[in-house]
Amino acid sequence: ETMRNFLQELPKCEHHVHLEGTLEPELLFELAKRNNIVLPEQFPKSKAELTERYNNFADLQDFLDFYYIGTSVLLTEDDFFQLAWNYFERVAKNDGLAHTEVFFDPQSHTERGVSMDTVVKGFKRGCEKAEEELGISTKLIMCLLRHLPSSHGLETINQAEEYIVNGHIHALGLDSAEKPFPPELFVECYEKVKQLHGSINLTAHAGEEGDHTYITNSLDLLNVKRIDHGVNSIQSVELLQRLSDERILLSVCPLSNIKLQVFKELTQIPLLKFLEHDVPFSLNSDDPAYFGGYILDNYIAIHENFGFKIEIWEKIVKNSIHGSWCHQSRKDELL
Ligand code: ADE
Ligand code: ZN
Repeated sequence: ETMRNFLQELPKCEHHVHLEGTLEPELLFELAKRNNIVLPEQFPKSKAELTERYNNFADLQDFLDFYYIGTSVLLTEDDFFQLAWNYFERVAKNDGLAHTEVFFDPQSHTERGVSMDTVVKGFKRGCEKAEEELGISTKLIMCLLRHLPSSHGLETINQAEEYIVNGHIHALGLDSAEKPFPPELFVECYEKVKQLHGSINLTAHAGEEGDHTYITNSLDLLNVKRIDHGVNSIQSVELLQRLSDERILLSVCPLSNIKLQVFKELTQIPLLKFLEHDVPFSLNSDDPAYFGGYILDNYIAIHENFGFKIEIWEKIVKNSIHGSWCHQSRKDELL
């Protein structure tokens, strides 16, 4: 209990949470009804049934099949606002979250005829309300879906041009099915956003199911300055050294790694290796509505399995603050 309080009060920063992954079963069914969305025949019919199915993902793709059905209930600007606000309010109040950089997947909405404006305006409104009323800081990161062709990614960047230029979209990421879609397919997309906004931040999912070359190639070819997941970096000592030297933050997602069967047990997540090589990492929830826990649950799960001393927790939290993409003055407040 005192440990829970300690972890709750740490000034935590989240760098890896998909807003679409915060869609709780309750809101999913509510929005499906409100928007007259017919869910597929085989889709679980109740909250209990759906939650039960979420305990049995075979792998990343099995999860993504559910995740994309879930996104299909989001239609109006208010839907996107409500989704984001629910997440911000929950983690600010229950989890002691201080700063969060949230992913969204516009292509999963524009493909269904929802406009980029609807998506970004709804999420942006959620961010603004959270900053004003909850005192947390937020950033929006637009992700491209790597299972779609890079030409679709380029089109998406064009649709988002206004928001990239004015900074409402603060960074670019890359997500969805990793393995047959290596980073080199998206070089043009990363070059294009850099042209639109020279100081935009860049990240990519890599080394969750893909091997260590996915990480190295994301750094070399996409010029990313952060790696989402990145756990397969342990396959290469040279890479670990590089991540440490260049202060590349890995956004590690413990409960996600268990639910998607990346590791059998939490103790297998290579946090000790990262600490040993001084590789910076943060702890994150990924898709909390699907993986059974928000950010504090991830901190608690790691504490229960690793029993870190207070000094280690302080190091993790400091690295998370330093690796954040907020203004230096905000970092100084949190440090
Ligand atoms: N989209 C949502 N969560 C994801 C994950 N963990 N990996 C890849 N794509 C995702
Ligand atoms: Zn993710």
